[in-house]
Amino acid sequence: MPRLQFIVASTRPGRVGPAVAAWATEEARRQGGFDIETVDLADIGLPFFDEPEHPSEAAYVHQHTKDWSATVSRGDAYVFVMPMYNGTFTAPLKNAIDFLYQEWQDKPVALLSYTAGPSGGVPAIEAIRPILTRIGFRAAERSISVPGIAELTGPDGFRAPDGLAGELAGVLDEIAKLLADTDAAPAQV
Ligand SMILES: Cc1cc2nc3c(=O)[nH]c(=O)nc-3n(C[C@H](O)[C@H](O)[C@H](O)COP(=O)(O)O)c2cc1C
Repeated sequence: MPRLQFIVASTRPGRVGPAVAAWATEEARRQGGFDIETVDLADIGLPFFDEPEHPSEAAYVHQHTKDWSATVSRGDAYVFVMPMYNGTFTAPLKNAIDFLYQEWQDKPVALLSYTAGPSGGVPAIEAIRPILTRIGFRAAERSISVPGIAELTGPDGFRAPDGLAGELAGVLDEIAKLLADTDAAPAQV
């Protein structure tokens, strides 16, 4: 089975990202079709980008980059579980993306955003899409945006609003199709 990594893109103490990711990974496991892994950028603990060479060279000098490369290389596809901060996606996510290059190539990625406010993080999704394309990801057209996150999270975790599991099913279906397209692609000569 392909491995789908849910990457938690917030790192601050008290964040709700892990609760949202816990719901999404449990639901994805229930729906089946993927080996599911949670990758929490707070646990990964990368410094600001500190490699001397462009990541496309994969000439990594730091152990934390080699470890991050090994983690990402395990994934066949990704879901970024991302809050919107000040109108865009988070700095830790951009930093973690920038560390690598070859590891991301042609990999499907989908976006699950959330906000305290009413936008659900749609502006953050719109902001990150061209960057993902430029790097070489294949971004799923479907995405999930959850507004009013404070009212949906508490000591019991994340209470998904009605319909969200169905939206996730649609996203997972698109990721599966993108992966199937990769497998079906003729070898480059
Ligand atoms: C630095 C920062 C910037 C934020 N900017 C926005 C914003 O632009 N729009 C919004 O609706 N909520 C904003 N929020 C509220 C977040 O959506 C809310 O705190 C959410 O829980 C953040 O995700 P996290 O808990 O995983 O860090 C911001 C929060 C932080 C910490």
